[in-house]
Amino acid sequence: MPGVLITLEGIEGSGKSTQLGLLKERISKHGLPYVCSKEPGGTILGKELRSLLLEPHSSGKKWCTMAELLLFFADRAQHLEEVVKPALHAGQIVLIDRFEDSTRAYQGAQGIPEEMLSILRQLVMKDFRPNLTLLFDADPIKTLERANSRNSAKNGFAETRFDNEAISFHQSVRQEFLKIAVQEPERIFVIKADEHPEEVAERVWSAVKPKIMAAGFLLEPSSKPVRVLKQRSW
Ligand code: TYD
Repeated sequence: MPGVLITLEGIEGSGKSTQLGLLKERISKHGLPYVCSKEPGGTILGKELRSLLLEPHSSGKKWCTMAELLLFFADRAQHLEEVVKPALHAGQIVLIDRFEDSTRAYQGAQGIPEEMLSILRQLVMKDFRPNLTLLFDADPIKTLERANSRNSAKNGFAETRFDNEAISFHQSVRQEFLKIAVQEPERIFVIKADEHPEEVAERVWSAVKPKIMAAGFLLEPSSKPVRVLKQRSW
């Protein structure tokens, strides 16, 4: 596929969304074609799954961990089929706010064994992986403060689901993310997220630029996309 897939990961309040906004701005300033999406909820049907996953049910019932895991993968299967792969085929830069590493980190921290996660990954994704994953790493005590004030400002409901769980859960999620980064250093770029957003954005760009150039995109301060296509297999 001629496009490039870049995913953004990290615990809540780690500044992913701010950085996604800055990265989009930079990419579009260079006149490059891009698509921006998120998980869960990157498709029309996936938005329904997102509500099922993140909004509290009127009955007060909660999904068991296994059902939740399968719903995240159902959302991902639809997203890959309908949005991500077509955009990559069309030669776009695809930016996704959360992807499969979130499942490994969050559901992993909830006790789903690694072997089970890898069976589902194989089933849904085969060898498909992002070209680059930006992992925004920060201390949960700081990020949760941020996420909570953001959610209450939104008058937010269940998107605070994990925010209300113990700090220790988020510490486990952080450790799971860092574990993946150690396992796949060539794909995952860890960025210290608790610095000034502009400094973080520079670090983001230093990781993104070589990847998109290696895929044949030429960065010109132009309004038109200038690119050289290269044959590449996943
Ligand atoms: P979202 O509002 O997108 O959170 P954020 O702004 O922090 O990215 O909520 C997504 C929530 O779903 C978040 O708590 C992480 C969780 N999640 C999983 O548990 N597993 C997954 O596979 C994904 C994609 C998200």
